[in-house]
Amino acid sequence: MPLPPAQLIGRGTTSGGYLLKLSEAFGLLSLKAPRFPDILHRCKTIEDVRKAARRRVPQPVFDYVDGGADDEVSLRENERSFSDYRFRPVVLNDVSEPDLTSDILGTSAAMPIGLAPTGYTKMVHPQGEAAVGRAAARAGTPYVLSTMSSTSIEDLRRVLPGSDLWFQLYVWKDRGVTRELVSRAWESGYRVIEVSVDTAVSGYRVRDVRNGLTIPPQVNWGSAMQIAVKPRYWTTMLRHPKMTFANFDPNRSIEQDRTSDGFTIENITTQFDPSLTWDQLSEIRDLWPGSLAIKGPIGPEDARRALHYGVDAVHLSNHGGRQLDRTVAPVDLIKPVREATADNALEIFVDSGVRHGADVATALALGAQAAFIGRPYLYGLAVAQERGVDHVLQLLCQQLTRTMQLLGVRNVSELRERGSELLMSSKGIA
Ligand code: FNR
Repeated sequence: MPLPPAQLIGRGTTSGGYLLKLSEAFGLLSLKAPRFPDILHRCKTIEDVRKAARRRVPQPVFDYVDGGADDEVSLRENERSFSDYRFRPVVLNDVSEPDLTSDILGTSAAMPIGLAPTGYTKMVHPQGEAAVGRAAARAGTPYVLSTMSSTSIEDLRRVLPGSDLWFQLYVWKDRGVTRELVSRAWESGYRVIEVSVDTAVSGYRVRDVRNGLTIPPQVNWGSAMQIAVKPRYWTTMLRHPKMTFANFDPNRSIEQDRTSDGFTIENITTQFDPSLTWDQLSEIRDLWPGSLAIKGPIGPEDARRALHYGVDAVHLSNHGGRQLDRTVAPVDLIKPVREATADNALEIFVDSGVRHGADVATALALGAQAAFIGRPYLYGLAVAQERGVDHVLQLLCQQLTRTMQLLGVRNVSELRERGSELLMSSKGIA
């Protein structure tokens, strides 16, 4: 028999006052029906998003995104190097209205954070590059489409008719393919081309090799286990068209082991031209009427040379630790490159290891125009598709805003101009 309410609440007490107090107590406890918060609400940092991504996608896919080359020394050091710098704030400077708008190669962006090129994005989620591009457009910031993308140059433009799109170029042995890519990007209204100069050959990504990763992923005995472990990933994948390289026909040029339907990273990068020199860069300069950047671990001497070849920007990057392991962390290249090119209009971008708005502030204080992210937005895409990318960009934007306010700077130009005042390396003045 159910107990009467009085017995439920007070061992036989029938006092209304007691009942009232208890209901008040319930009110204070705010006991509501249990709600299961959206996974993104639990992601308060980029590392939270990374951990959530690890739970969402099969291990070989996570490793493809997360891993680096060889011993992953650069991968680890990229992040650590940002935190080797220390802030020295300025005070009493009315930071009530922080302004993040930034001029990036002549166009105003809502914040100094761009999205770096990443290949085969549909392997993370079939919404792929379109989802990433839409999130970037919403955030008012540039997105660089990779040569190795799983959405074509033209299709992405159709999805995003008015937004600031850049194209990343790998130079192919077949110069016809290279010229074709450049002219398609221009005809589709891409504004900036970034030539990657760090991929003469592929870095040795041990995790991918161990996992036997192919593009697209193949279902074999190993991946059959993965299907059992991550059924949602695979059912989503199987409901969408088979992923492929969208900007070129891989079967036309890539040599591969014909027993397999997929390509290894190694298969693909054999098509890139290891004989690339400054003279060929000059040819691309002549072909491309828009802004031209080179992307790689570019030191001060090469940055000066780049100016001579009509390059507008250097994108300092070690490919997120995926190419030459033990390469200097790009954040440590900003200052020497800025000093070597001080009197010129060369813009400096940096990526590899940006995981917090404070990293972006550090890059800008050292003299960069903008910082770029790769893995963070892919983690976001894995966790909650387009909303996940939005979330990552919001986190970084909030963190940068707070960092600027606590540093005592009102806007991005001030952060850059007063950089030497605002930053020390943990080993001395930056
Ligand atoms: C990349 N990156 C890259 N770079 C490039 O020029 N062309 C490409 O196709 C790719 N593909 C690619 C795939 C994946 C899965 C990753 C993680 C990265 C490198 C990328 O543009 C950028 O330099 C790094 O990702 C930046 O480092 P973080 O932010 O990932 O630490």
